[in-house]
Amino acid sequence: EKITISVIKADIGGWPGHSRVHPQLVETAEEVLAKAQEEGTIIDFYVATCGDDLQLIMTHKKGVDSSEIHGLAWKTFEEATKVAKGLGLYGAGQDLLKDAFSGNIRGMGPGIAEMEITLRKSEPIVTFHMDKTEPGAFNLPIFRMFADPFNTAGLVIDPNMHMGFRFEVWDIKEHKRVILSTPEELYDLLALIGAKSRYVIKRVFPKEGHKIPKDEPVAVISTEKLYEIAGEYVGKDDPVAIVRAQSGLPALGEVLEPFAFPHLVSGWMRGSHNGPVMPVPMHMANPTRFDGPPRVVALGWQISPEGKLVGPVDLFDDPAFDGARQKALEIAEYIRRHGPFEPHRLPMEDMEYTTLPGVLEKLKDRFEPVE
Ligand code: 13P
Ligand code: 13P
Ligand code: MG
Ligand code: MG
Ligand code: MG
Ligand code: MG
Ligand code: MG
Repeated sequence: EKITISVIKADIGGWPGHSRVHPQLVETAEEVLAKAQEEGTIIDFYVATCGDDLQLIMTHKKGVDSSEIHGLAWKTFEEATKVAKGLGLYGAGQDLLKDAFSGNIRGMGPGIAEMEITLRKSEPIVTFHMDKTEPGAFNLPIFRMFADPFNTAGLVIDPNMHMGFRFEVWDIKEHKRVILSTPEELYDLLALIGAKSRYVIKRVFPKEGHKIPKDEPVAVISTEKLYEIAGEYVGKDDPVAIVRAQSGLPALGEVLEPFAFPHLVSGWMRGSHNGPVMPVPMHMANPTRFDGPPRVVALGWQISPEGKLVGPVDLFDDPAFDGARQKALEIAEYIRRHGPFEPHRLPMEDMEYTTLPGVLEKLKDRFEPVE
């Protein structure tokens, strides 16, 4: 029998500004989900936070895109939004872009990563939670986990994963997708996903001959684009991901290894700047400097045979990642000195909002031809 793991997240108010989630929002979400667990809608849950984003991790047997589960998440965010409004939190209800729930939470504002899987004898998974960045921030680390032999030794030395993986990549501007196989199509894959604001890894699948059925994802990332949904700036869609580990998949340490390098992502201040993503435990995921730098939290779980979430283990709560944090601070200091200049500030088309059209309008009569 299959179990579904759903991670559904929304920013429904920051405390203060866009820094962190107020504990009363977490409590409210826990109350709503505890009731749903009692009623048997979900098997288990955990409410996590990263910066100002509230994340519902749930296990159940209703499959992906279940209107019951999405409706539960929506109701939870609505209840917590009431509390956020009562406290006057910043941007209360920010990511709830529609007034009424109509069966599926996709395209309504929250970010979703879900996978329906046949539990293995032992099922280790990691949920990743990012703030102050966008879904394309997962392109580099997911690529490294499942396709880079310098990251994942298992691709070279474990016969159970030597055949490689398949990547489902979405063109989030044209709303199209393509599946590419590695290692054969490695360069084609990189040609796309290096353009991370447009081509985003949505899922990774095993190949024919793998122990895991070919149609079951081994990784899934939320790819909702808030500004496209809303048609105006409402904050970058701080993403989440679920990754399965071990036994024919990257080992836990191979899943975490990409984050030892704090790569540059877009987001940070006003969703309009490049900066390093800093791996941190949950208690350090409260971005402050220039509203950042961007953060990533990794929570480790074993799924019990009944579908219970055994965890979390706060995986970046380890001095082994001190070096990455230190490096992130150095990069943050360096790139901040550029102020409003690219490549710290994003290129025009990737900024979340801009005064440029207004400035051009004001100056339009003062522009003169150049010989
Ligand atoms: P498994 O194949 O049992 O997951 O072992 C991999 C491992 O433990 C690498 O450190
Ligand atoms: P969030 O996307 O985390 O709400 O941040 C928005 C922002 O503008 C930070 O400066
Ligand atoms: Mg947000
Ligand atoms: Mg916010
Ligand atoms: Mg956020
Ligand atoms: Mg954001
Ligand atoms: Mg082992």
